[in-house]
Order: sequence, then C-alpha cells, then structure tokens
Amino acid sequence: AKQHVLAGKKVLISAGPTQEKIDPVRFFTNHSSGKMGFALAESAAQLGADVTLVTGPVTLDTPANVDRIDVVTAQEMHEHMMEHFPESDIVIKAAAVADYFPKNTYDHKMKKAEGTLTIEMDRTTDILKELGRAKTNQFLVGFAAETNSPLEFGKKKLVSKNLDAIIVNDIQAAGSGFRSDTNDVTYIHKDGKNKHLALATKKQIANQILEQIISDLKADAT
Ligand code: PMT
Repeated sequence: AKQHVLAGKKVLISAGPTQEKIDPVRFFTNHSSGKMGFALAESAAQLGADVTLVTGPVTLDTPANVDRIDVVTAQEMHEHMMEHFPESDIVIKAAAVADYFPKNTYDHKMKKAEGTLTIEMDRTTDILKELGRAKTNQFLVGFAAETNSPLEFGKKKLVSKNLDAIIVNDIQAAGSGFRSDTNDVTYIHKDGKNKHLALATKKQIANQILEQIISDLKADAT
C-alpha cells in the first residue's frame, strides 16, 4: 500500500542547529528551529520507515514513532550520525551544523574588559562530507542554505560531498528557510534532474521530498 512504501527501511535524519560553547552562559549557534527536519521525520514515520532523528537544541515535540537523539554540539551530532549511518537506507541532513567552534572554552563566565574581544574559532568536522566518504549503499541527501546562486552552489555541494541528492533552500526567498512554517526548495538529483517544490508548509515539502527520494531509489534499483 502507498502508505507504507518505506516499511522495513531505516531513515536517519538530522535537524536543528548545533550550539558551540564559549563559557557556561554563552555559545555560537544559528537560526534553525528544527521544523524542516522534524517534518521529514514525521513524514518518513508515516510512510512506515524506522526513523532515527538526531537533533540539536530545539523546542519541538518528537513526532510519533520516531527515535530521537538529542545533541548539543557539532561533534556530538557527528558521533551519533556516524554510529547510525552504516545500517541506514536513507539519510537526510537537514541540520544547520555550526561551521566553527571556539578554540578555547571556559568553565567560568568570561569577565568583561575594556576594548574589543577576539575569539579564535576552529572548523567543525563537515559531517555530510564524512558520510559521503563512508557511503556504501545509503541514499544520502543534503540541504544547502544559500543566499545567492542557490542552484549553482547546491550542485557544487552535491558533487563535493558525494551526495545522491541535495535540497537547495534559497533562504532569502519569502516564506522560505529558517524558522518559518513554510519552505520553497529545489530538489536536485545527482543525475542533474531538478524539481522545484513551490512554497508550501514544511510538512508538505517533506512529503514531496520523500516522494522524490522514493522514486529515485526505485529508478536506481532498475
Ligand atoms: O530548522 P528550520 O528552522 O526548519 O530551517 C530549515 C533549514 C533552513 C535549517 C534547512 O532547510 C537547511 O537548509 N539546512 C541546511 C543548513 C545548512 O547548514 O546549510 P549549509 O549549506 O551550511 O550546509 C550544507 C549541508 O552540509 C547541510 O546538509 C548541513 O547539514 C551539512 N553540514 C554543514 C556543516 C558541517 N560542519 N557539517 C555538515 O554536515
């Protein structure tokens, strides 16, 4: 039945921001609410999949029949994604992972001083790139949040991270991207096929993304 097309499939999804600690009261993060990733987890579970959702700090309820793993930092997200990756069939990285973390962290609140403050940052691991390297037969899907030439930059990420598909989010388009209940994206398959998924609720966009993945998986199997 159409409803359970993903029965027996393991789907791994990441959602939300990561938080990179400076001291006990301060951290670096971004505007991700987790809504897009949670909508994908809910849709995949409704299609009968076995869903694991690795999420940064968000205020959303866990969708029904979804195994949720809460993490804070990019490094923790990396560890949990790598652990669940081998047994997964479909992996979707909707999280907005911090690209940098403070080189030094403090156990006590940093004291203010006169003048400017410089904080040195190190790069976090590119989780998606690591998954692309570790890929055996998983269908690996990334997101790309872009502000200019979204399709061009999205395609570059698809190739450089060894993905099967990428969802390009023009985060400056109205009603699209961080925090909103709606999104407007383009699904790009590695074969070059583009599919614009016009402005709709994140739940509807999630359903359409999964439909694309399912049809591409079928095409790959034949
Ligand atoms: O959570 P919402 O409020 O609903 O907003 C949804 C969203 C805008 C966060 C989401 O739709 C989205 O676009 N997610 C990707 C945001 C992002 O970090 O894009 P990026 O172009 O910087 O990263 C590209 C891909 O690499 C992403 O799949 C990201 O998860 C991954 N990445 C990035 C950096 C890193 N260190 N590790 C990664 O795995």
